[in-house]
Amino acid sequence: MNEKEWAASIAEKIMKKVTISAERSKDKVPFMTINGLFDDWTDRISWWTNGFYAGQLWQLYHAYGVEQFKTVAETIEKKLDGSLMSYQGMDHDSGFKWLLTSVANYKLTGKEESRNRALLAAANLAGRFNLAGKFIRAWNEWNPGDESNAGWAIIDCMMNLPLLYWAAEQTRDPRFSQIAMAHADTAMRTFVRENGSVAHIVRFDPVTGEMIDTLGGQGMGVGSSWTRGQAWAVYGFALSYRHTKKEAYLETAKKVGRYFANSVPESGFVPVDFCQDASLDWEDSTAAAIAACGMLEIEQYVEGEEKEFFHEAAMKLLITLAEKRCNFSRDTDNILEKCSSRYQEENHNYSLIYGDYYFTEAILKLCDKELFLW
Ligand code: GLY
Repeated sequence: MNEKEWAASIAEKIMKKVTISAERSKDKVPFMTINGLFDDWTDRISWWTNGFYAGQLWQLYHAYGVEQFKTVAETIEKKLDGSLMSYQGMDHDSGFKWLLTSVANYKLTGKEESRNRALLAAANLAGRFNLAGKFIRAWNEWNPGDESNAGWAIIDCMMNLPLLYWAAEQTRDPRFSQIAMAHADTAMRTFVRENGSVAHIVRFDPVTGEMIDTLGGQGMGVGSSWTRGQAWAVYGFALSYRHTKKEAYLETAKKVGRYFANSVPESGFVPVDFCQDASLDWEDSTAAAIAACGMLEIEQYVEGEEKEFFHEAAMKLLITLAEKRCNFSRDTDNILEKCSSRYQEENHNYSLIYGDYYFTEAILKLCDKELFLW
Protein backbone atom coordinates (compact mmCIF):
# COMPACT_ATOMS: atom_id res chain seq x y z
CA MET A 1 0.00 0.00 0.00
CA ASN A 2 1.47 3.37 -0.93
CA GLU A 3 1.17 6.45 1.27
CA LYS A 4 -1.93 7.84 -0.45
CA GLU A 5 -3.72 4.50 -0.25
CA TRP A 6 -2.78 4.22 3.41
CA ALA A 7 -4.14 7.72 4.10
CA ALA A 8 -7.34 6.94 2.18
CA SER A 9 -7.85 3.80 4.29
CA ILE A 10 -7.48 5.82 7.51
CA ALA A 11 -9.79 8.55 6.18
CA GLU A 12 -12.40 5.89 5.53
CA LYS A 13 -12.13 4.67 9.13
CA ILE A 14 -12.47 8.25 10.40
CA MET A 15 -15.57 8.75 8.25
CA LYS A 16 -17.24 5.58 9.49
CA LYS A 17 -16.50 6.46 13.07
CA VAL A 18 -17.68 10.09 12.82
CA THR A 19 -20.85 9.07 10.99
CA ILE A 20 -21.80 6.94 13.99
CA SER A 21 -20.67 9.39 16.66
CA ALA A 22 -22.37 12.38 14.97
CA GLU A 23 -25.64 10.45 14.89
CA ARG A 24 -25.26 9.54 18.55
CA SER A 25 -24.10 12.90 19.86
CA LYS A 26 -26.69 15.10 18.06
CA ASP A 27 -25.68 18.74 18.58
CA LYS A 28 -23.33 18.37 21.53
CA VAL A 29 -20.31 20.67 21.75
CA PRO A 30 -17.72 18.14 22.91
CA PHE A 31 -14.44 18.73 24.68
CA MET A 32 -13.59 15.18 25.75
CA THR A 33 -15.29 11.84 26.32
CA ILE A 34 -16.68 10.39 29.51
CA ASN A 35 -16.87 6.61 29.47
CA GLY A 36 -16.22 6.79 25.75
CA LEU A 37 -19.02 9.24 24.91
CA PHE A 38 -18.72 12.95 24.12
CA ASP A 39 -19.45 15.38 26.92
CA ASP A 40 -21.28 18.64 26.11
CA TRP A 41 -19.94 22.14 26.73
CA THR A 42 -22.99 24.00 25.46
CA ASP A 43 -23.38 25.54 28.91
CA ARG A 44 -19.71 26.70 28.90
CA ILE A 45 -19.84 28.00 25.36
CA SER A 46 -16.80 30.30 25.58
CA TRP A 47 -14.34 27.44 26.14
CA TRP A 48 -11.49 27.59 23.63
CA THR A 49 -12.08 24.12 22.17
CA ASN A 50 -15.73 24.62 21.24
CA GLY A 51 -15.07 25.04 17.50
CA PHE A 52 -13.08 21.85 16.93
CA TYR A 53 -15.89 19.35 16.52
CA ALA A 54 -17.63 21.63 14.02
CA GLY A 55 -14.27 22.02 12.25
CA GLN A 56 -13.87 18.27 11.95
CA LEU A 57 -17.43 17.99 10.60
CA TRP A 58 -16.80 20.75 8.03
CA GLN A 59 -13.60 18.97 6.93
CA LEU A 60 -15.48 15.72 6.40
CA TYR A 61 -18.48 17.46 4.81
CA HIS A 62 -16.11 19.09 2.33
CA ALA A 63 -14.37 15.79 1.60
CA TYR A 64 -17.40 13.48 1.48
CA GLY A 65 -20.52 15.68 1.27
CA VAL A 66 -22.48 14.25 4.22
CA GLU A 67 -25.29 16.79 4.73
CA GLN A 68 -25.83 15.88 8.40
CA PHE A 69 -22.28 17.03 9.23
CA LYS A 70 -23.03 20.50 7.87
CA THR A 71 -26.26 20.72 9.88
CA VAL A 72 -24.52 19.89 13.17
CA ALA A 73 -21.59 22.23 12.42
CA GLU A 74 -24.03 25.10 11.77
CA THR A 75 -25.87 24.41 15.02
CA ILE A 76 -22.60 24.63 16.94
CA GLU A 77 -21.69 27.87 15.12
CA LYS A 78 -24.96 29.45 16.27
CA LYS A 79 -24.37 28.28 19.82
CA LEU A 80 -21.01 30.10 19.76
CA ASP A 81 -22.92 33.40 19.43
CA GLY A 82 -23.24 33.08 23.21
CA SER A 83 -19.49 33.58 23.40
CA LEU A 84 -19.39 36.33 20.79
CA MET A 85 -21.91 38.32 22.83
CA SER A 86 -19.99 37.95 26.07
CA TYR A 87 -17.12 40.37 26.70
CA GLN A 88 -15.71 38.01 29.30
CA GLY A 89 -16.14 35.06 26.96
CA MET A 90 -13.86 36.59 24.31
CA ASP A 91 -10.17 35.94 24.75
CA HIS A 92 -7.30 35.30 22.32
CA ASP A 93 -8.73 31.93 21.23
CA SER A 94 -11.09 33.41 18.65
CA GLY A 95 -9.15 31.79 15.82
CA PHE A 96 -9.82 28.31 17.17
CA LYS A 97 -13.48 29.14 17.68
CA TRP A 98 -14.42 31.03 14.51
CA LEU A 99 -12.01 29.84 11.80
CA LEU A 100 -13.32 26.30 12.26
CA THR A 101 -16.98 27.33 12.34
CA SER A 102 -17.89 30.62 10.67
CA VAL A 103 -14.93 30.93 8.28
CA ALA A 104 -15.43 27.30 7.27
CA ASN A 105 -19.13 27.93 6.66
CA TYR A 106 -18.43 31.12 4.71
CA LYS A 107 -15.80 29.43 2.56
CA LEU A 108 -18.17 26.61 1.64
CA THR A 109 -21.54 28.35 1.46
CA GLY A 110 -20.81 32.07 1.15
CA LYS A 111 -23.17 32.81 4.04
CA GLU A 112 -22.93 36.51 4.99
CA GLU A 113 -24.06 35.80 8.53
CA SER A 114 -20.99 33.59 9.03
CA ARG A 115 -18.62 36.15 7.51
CA ASN A 116 -20.07 38.76 9.85
CA ARG A 117 -19.48 36.56 12.93
CA ALA A 118 -15.87 35.88 11.95
CA LEU A 119 -15.17 39.58 11.29
CA LEU A 120 -16.60 40.55 14.68
CA ALA A 121 -14.39 37.92 16.30
CA ALA A 122 -11.35 39.18 14.36
CA ALA A 123 -12.03 42.79 15.41
CA ASN A 124 -12.25 41.68 19.02
CA LEU A 125 -8.99 39.73 18.71
CA ALA A 126 -7.25 42.76 17.17
CA GLY A 127 -8.52 44.82 20.11
CA ARG A 128 -6.47 42.66 22.48
CA PHE A 129 -3.22 44.01 21.05
CA ASN A 130 -0.94 45.71 23.56
CA LEU A 131 0.71 48.64 21.76
CA ALA A 132 3.62 49.03 24.18
CA GLY A 133 4.72 45.38 24.14
CA LYS A 134 3.40 44.53 20.65
CA PHE A 135 1.69 41.33 21.75
CA ILE A 136 -1.86 40.01 21.89
CA ARG A 137 -3.07 39.54 25.45
CA ALA A 138 -3.96 35.90 26.10
CA TRP A 139 -6.65 35.68 28.73
CA ASN A 140 -8.99 38.00 30.59
CA GLU A 141 -8.69 38.81 34.29
CA TRP A 142 -8.85 35.71 36.48
CA ASN A 143 -11.26 37.42 38.89
CA PRO A 144 -13.11 40.74 38.65
CA GLY A 145 -10.59 43.52 39.24
CA ASP A 146 -7.55 41.22 39.13
CA GLU A 147 -5.59 42.31 36.07
CA SER A 148 -2.37 40.55 37.06
CA ASN A 149 -2.32 38.69 33.74
CA ALA A 150 -2.81 41.80 31.59
CA GLY A 151 0.73 41.38 30.24
CA TRP A 152 0.58 37.65 29.51
CA ALA A 153 0.98 36.26 26.02
CA ILE A 154 1.04 32.56 25.14
CA ILE A 155 2.54 30.59 22.27
CA ASP A 156 -0.86 29.06 21.41
CA CYS A 157 -1.88 32.46 20.04
CA MET A 158 0.22 31.81 16.93
CA MET A 159 -2.66 29.56 15.81
CA ASN A 160 -5.21 32.35 16.26
CA LEU A 161 -3.36 34.83 14.02
CA PRO A 162 -4.82 33.32 10.83
CA LEU A 163 -8.20 34.84 11.79
CA LEU A 164 -6.51 38.24 11.49
CA TYR A 165 -4.88 37.36 8.14
CA TRP A 166 -8.28 36.22 6.90
CA ALA A 167 -9.95 39.46 8.07
CA ALA A 168 -7.23 41.56 6.39
CA GLU A 169 -7.82 39.79 3.12
CA GLN A 170 -11.62 40.03 3.41
CA THR A 171 -11.75 43.70 4.32
CA ARG A 172 -8.57 44.84 2.54
CA ASP A 173 -7.73 46.57 5.80
CA PRO A 174 -4.03 46.02 6.63
CA ARG A 175 -4.53 46.75 10.33
CA PHE A 176 -5.44 43.11 10.90
CA SER A 177 -2.30 41.65 9.32
CA GLN A 178 -0.13 44.41 10.84
CA ILE A 179 -1.28 43.30 14.29
CA ALA A 180 -0.80 39.61 13.46
CA MET A 181 2.74 40.23 12.21
CA ALA A 182 3.65 42.47 15.14
CA HIS A 183 2.58 39.69 17.50
CA ALA A 184 4.44 37.02 15.48
CA ASP A 185 7.60 39.18 15.52
CA THR A 186 7.37 39.54 19.31
CA ALA A 187 6.77 35.80 19.70
CA MET A 188 9.86 35.02 17.58
CA ARG A 189 11.97 37.29 19.75
CA THR A 190 10.66 36.33 23.18
CA PHE A 191 9.29 32.74 23.14
CA VAL A 192 11.73 30.88 20.90
CA ARG A 193 14.90 29.63 22.55
CA GLU A 194 18.28 29.07 20.95
CA ASN A 195 17.79 25.26 20.77
CA GLY A 196 14.40 25.59 19.00
CA SER A 197 12.21 24.89 22.02
CA VAL A 198 9.64 27.48 23.10
CA ALA A 199 8.23 28.88 26.33
CA HIS A 200 4.51 28.53 26.93
CA ILE A 201 3.89 31.91 28.58
CA VAL A 202 5.80 35.19 28.36
CA ARG A 203 5.03 37.96 30.84
CA PHE A 204 5.37 41.57 29.76
CA ASP A 205 4.86 44.75 31.72
CA PRO A 206 1.53 45.81 30.19
CA VAL A 207 2.36 49.50 30.67
CA THR A 208 5.95 49.75 29.43
CA GLY A 209 5.80 46.65 27.21
CA GLU A 210 9.08 45.30 28.59
CA MET A 211 9.46 41.53 28.77
CA ILE A 212 9.58 40.40 32.41
CA ASP A 213 10.09 36.62 32.28
CA THR A 214 8.68 33.31 31.05
CA LEU A 215 6.39 30.89 32.90
CA GLY A 216 6.09 27.11 32.64
CA GLY A 217 2.34 27.28 32.00
CA GLN A 218 0.93 23.91 30.98
CA GLY A 219 4.40 22.38 30.76
CA MET A 220 6.64 20.90 33.44
CA GLY A 221 8.09 24.23 34.54
CA VAL A 222 10.10 27.30 33.59
CA GLY A 223 12.52 26.48 30.79
CA SER A 224 10.86 23.13 29.97
CA SER A 225 9.36 22.12 26.65
CA TRP A 226 5.59 21.48 26.78
CA THR A 227 5.01 19.50 23.61
CA ARG A 228 1.67 20.99 22.61
CA GLY A 229 3.19 24.45 22.93
CA GLN A 230 6.04 23.37 20.63
CA ALA A 231 3.43 22.03 18.20
CA TRP A 232 1.46 25.30 18.23
CA ALA A 233 4.72 27.07 17.36
CA VAL A 234 5.62 24.70 14.51
CA TYR A 235 2.24 25.04 12.82
CA GLY A 236 1.66 28.67 13.86
CA PHE A 237 4.91 30.09 12.44
CA ALA A 238 4.48 28.03 9.26
CA LEU A 239 1.01 29.55 8.84
CA SER A 240 2.29 33.08 9.40
CA TYR A 241 4.81 32.38 6.64
CA ARG A 242 2.05 31.10 4.36
CA HIS A 243 0.07 34.29 4.82
CA THR A 244 2.89 36.83 4.73
CA LYS A 245 5.85 35.17 2.98
CA LYS A 246 8.15 36.67 5.62
CA GLU A 247 11.20 34.35 5.53
CA ALA A 248 11.94 34.69 9.25
CA TYR A 249 8.66 32.93 10.08
CA LEU A 250 9.56 29.97 7.91
CA GLU A 251 13.04 29.81 9.43
CA THR A 252 11.47 29.83 12.90
CA ALA A 253 8.94 27.13 11.97
CA LYS A 254 11.80 24.97 10.66
CA LYS A 255 13.91 25.55 13.76
CA VAL A 256 11.10 24.60 16.15
CA GLY A 257 10.02 21.79 13.82
CA ARG A 258 13.50 20.24 13.76
CA TYR A 259 13.72 20.49 17.53
CA PHE A 260 10.34 18.73 17.82
CA ALA A 261 11.16 15.97 15.32
CA ASN A 262 14.57 15.31 16.88
CA SER A 263 13.06 15.12 20.38
CA VAL A 264 10.41 12.49 19.55
CA PRO A 265 11.49 9.20 21.12
CA GLU A 266 12.13 6.10 18.99
CA SER A 267 8.64 4.79 19.93
CA GLY A 268 7.01 7.72 18.10
CA PHE A 269 4.88 8.51 21.18
CA VAL A 270 5.00 12.19 22.10
CA PRO A 271 5.41 12.94 25.82
CA VAL A 272 3.54 15.76 27.57
CA ASP A 273 6.82 17.64 27.98
CA PHE A 274 10.06 16.85 26.16
CA CYS A 275 11.88 17.48 29.46
CA GLN A 276 9.81 15.06 31.54
CA ASP A 277 11.49 12.22 33.38
CA ALA A 278 12.05 9.18 31.15
CA SER A 279 10.30 6.98 33.72
CA LEU A 280 6.97 8.75 33.11
CA ASP A 281 4.73 7.27 30.43
CA TRP A 282 2.61 10.42 30.10
CA GLU A 283 1.79 11.21 26.48
CA ASP A 284 -0.02 13.84 24.49
CA SER A 285 -1.37 12.55 21.20
CA THR A 286 -2.82 16.00 20.43
CA ALA A 287 0.72 17.43 20.25
CA ALA A 288 1.67 14.72 17.78
CA ALA A 289 -1.30 15.47 15.51
CA ILE A 290 -0.80 19.26 15.59
CA ALA A 291 2.95 18.98 14.95
CA ALA A 292 2.29 16.63 12.02
CA CYS A 293 -0.01 19.24 10.46
CA GLY A 294 2.70 21.86 10.95
CA MET A 295 5.39 19.69 9.39
CA LEU A 296 3.19 18.92 6.38
CA GLU A 297 2.71 22.68 6.03
CA ILE A 298 6.47 23.38 6.21
CA GLU A 299 7.12 20.63 3.68
CA GLN A 300 5.37 22.67 1.01
CA TYR A 301 7.92 25.49 1.24
CA VAL A 302 11.20 23.57 1.32
CA GLU A 303 13.03 21.23 -1.00
CA GLY A 304 15.43 18.28 -1.06
CA GLU A 305 16.69 16.96 2.28
CA GLU A 306 14.52 19.41 4.24
CA LYS A 307 11.37 18.37 2.45
CA GLU A 308 12.14 14.72 3.10
CA PHE A 309 12.99 15.42 6.74
CA PHE A 310 9.69 17.14 7.51
CA HIS A 311 7.62 14.70 5.50
CA GLU A 312 9.18 11.68 7.20
CA ALA A 313 8.85 13.27 10.63
CA ALA A 314 5.14 13.98 10.03
CA MET A 315 4.55 10.45 8.73
CA LYS A 316 6.25 8.89 11.73
CA LEU A 317 3.87 10.78 14.03
CA LEU A 318 0.78 9.98 11.97
CA ILE A 319 1.56 6.29 11.47
CA THR A 320 2.23 5.88 15.21
CA LEU A 321 -1.08 7.59 16.01
CA ALA A 322 -3.05 5.63 13.41
CA GLU A 323 -1.64 2.26 14.39
CA LYS A 324 -1.29 2.61 18.13
CA ARG A 325 -3.30 5.51 19.45
CA CYS A 326 -6.54 5.50 17.43
CA ASN A 327 -9.75 3.95 18.59
CA PHE A 328 -11.93 3.13 15.59
CA SER A 329 -14.51 1.10 17.50
CA ARG A 330 -18.18 2.00 17.02
CA ASP A 331 -18.79 2.13 20.77
CA THR A 332 -16.83 5.26 21.57
CA ASP A 333 -17.02 8.79 20.17
CA ASN A 334 -13.36 9.77 20.36
CA ILE A 335 -10.66 8.73 17.91
CA LEU A 336 -7.33 9.65 19.53
CA GLU A 337 -6.35 8.20 22.87
CA LYS A 338 -3.67 9.13 25.36
CA CYS A 339 -4.16 12.87 25.15
CA SER A 340 -3.20 15.21 27.94
CA SER A 341 -4.31 18.71 28.78
CA ARG A 342 -1.31 19.79 30.85
CA TYR A 343 1.65 18.42 32.75
CA GLN A 344 0.47 19.53 36.19
CA GLU A 345 -2.64 17.38 36.46
CA GLU A 346 -3.38 13.94 37.77
CA ASN A 347 -4.89 12.35 34.68
CA HIS A 348 -2.76 12.11 31.55
CA ASN A 349 -4.77 9.64 29.61
CA TYR A 350 -7.97 10.73 27.96
CA SER A 351 -9.36 11.97 24.68
CA LEU A 352 -9.56 15.60 23.58
CA ILE A 353 -11.59 16.85 20.63
CA TYR A 354 -8.80 18.97 19.16
CA GLY A 355 -6.63 15.88 18.85
CA ASP A 356 -9.31 14.31 16.65
CA TYR A 357 -9.61 17.52 14.65
CA TYR A 358 -5.89 17.81 13.81
CA PHE A 359 -5.53 14.10 13.14
CA THR A 360 -8.44 14.31 10.68
CA GLU A 361 -6.97 17.44 9.06
CA ALA A 362 -3.56 15.77 8.65
CA ILE A 363 -5.01 12.63 7.08
CA LEU A 364 -7.16 14.68 4.69
CA LYS A 365 -4.08 16.70 3.71
CA LEU A 366 -2.40 13.45 2.67
CA CYS A 367 -5.52 12.55 0.66
CA ASP A 368 -5.60 16.00 -1.01
CA LYS A 369 -9.09 16.45 0.44
CA GLU A 370 -8.40 19.07 3.11
CA LEU A 371 -10.46 22.24 3.43
CA PHE A 372 -7.80 24.82 4.29
CA LEU A 373 -9.12 26.80 7.25
CA TRP A 374 -6.14 28.54 8.87
N1 GLY B 1 -4.64 26.43 23.97
C1 GLY B 1 -4.65 25.73 25.21
C2 GLY B 1 -4.04 24.40 25.11
O1 GLY B 1 -3.35 24.07 24.17
O2 GLY B 1 -4.25 23.63 26.04
